[in-house]
Amino acid sequence: MTVSVGIDKIGFYTPSLYLDMAELATARGEDPNKYLIGIGQSKQAVIPPTQDIVTMAANAASQILTPALKAEVAMVLFGTESGIDNSKASAVYLAHLLGLSPKTRAIEVKQACYGATAGLQLAADYVRVHPQAKVLVIGADVARYGLRTAGEVTQGGGAVAMLVTADPQILTLDMVSSYHTEDVMDFWRPTYRTEALVDGKYSTNVYLDFFKTVWADYQQQTNRTIVDFDAFVFHLPFTKMGRKGLRQILPEAQPDQQKSLKAAFEASQEDNRNVGNLYTGSLYLSLLSLLRHGQLTAGARLGFFSYGSGAEGEFFSGILQPNYQRGFDGAALTTLLAQRKRVSVAEYEDIYRAQLSNDSRDVQLPVGEEVAQYYLAGRQNQQRQYREQ
Ligand code: COA
Repeated sequence: MTVSVGIDKIGFYTPSLYLDMAELATARGEDPNKYLIGIGQSKQAVIPPTQDIVTMAANAASQILTPALKAEVAMVLFGTESGIDNSKASAVYLAHLLGLSPKTRAIEVKQACYGATAGLQLAADYVRVHPQAKVLVIGADVARYGLRTAGEVTQGGGAVAMLVTADPQILTLDMVSSYHTEDVMDFWRPTYRTEALVDGKYSTNVYLDFFKTVWADYQQQTNRTIVDFDAFVFHLPFTKMGRKGLRQILPEAQPDQQKSLKAAFEASQEDNRNVGNLYTGSLYLSLLSLLRHGQLTAGARLGFFSYGSGAEGEFFSGILQPNYQRGFDGAALTTLLAQRKRVSVAEYEDIYRAQLSNDSRDVQLPVGEEVAQYYLAGRQNQQRQYREQ
């Protein structure tokens, strides 16, 4: 008998600062509605130098890992394109910071915004073979395009942590999925750069083309059509992107279903609209947003489109489980977002420039205002100094 496998728990973390997108638009000489409606972003997470992918992942994972679960994690798959080391995996730093058992495999997975999906699917296959195993999958990134660039409005950052197990509380993953890879230069970041190179308009078109391709292939493999779905969840580098994706397939649905799919999309973009781009975590923040704000019932089939520039796309699906609300702490996320402090454009620019320098100097970061459990205190002897409070 095939074991049902999927997402048992989800945790999310984003730092305690944000920038208002209407204010950024005004500072950049743009109509605020371009950012609020045209791009579809209201707030953007501002990442202080005291947070990086490891600390954000630890802050997300600590929400879902009890001491007993920490002893049971068999593998950590850390999806990111914001790596802090060309050799050592961020998953190893994370496993140590969380106090996981040394009997754990810990590796990093990279393919732009697709990394966490690769982690999720590899984790699911592993658990199908080892049904007792629990795998921690992370999607954590800092989305940086640069001050005064076209991509600036699509920045952000944060981490999603998912526990993949047999008989999961939130979502069982269907076995069939459709994936597609092509060598495309729409977005990339050579090792000498701290900001990505991107052709945003081209990337938007590749995203939509890949979605068309994998959606058609998925339907052919499964004989399912749009009527078999209650909601679609998209990778959201900015919320308008997913809206364009949904528009591409809506004509396949009858008017009533179009209405419910649109309502589900509105729920799925709400939290992303207030956090910004998490790169590889974005699809899973959108899932969390749908679970928090949507009107879904157990048994609903959800479709997921994952896209990582460069480029790789995947369409997969899963079934919502009866106790899905027990798999995440919605109230904690509401509090996390509500308690963030708004920074001005000038403050954001200072924080943006204050990121840990790309050299070997010893640095002590100003940790006085840091409220997160895990944070970065600086660098000594070329080693990042992680702390817990
Ligand atoms: N009110 C409402 N909408 C407005 C507006 C206004 N006053 N002014 C402009 N808009 C709309 C435009 O019509 C456009 O909508 P559309 O895409 O539906 O046609 C949208 O706002 C964006 O305007 P545009 O002129 O295309 O913006 P831009 O040249 O500044 O670029 C991106 C936008 C998204 C391409 C750019 O931010 C970017 O490159 N981001 C990075 C993308 C990325 O991360 N890609 C890789 C991962 S998939």
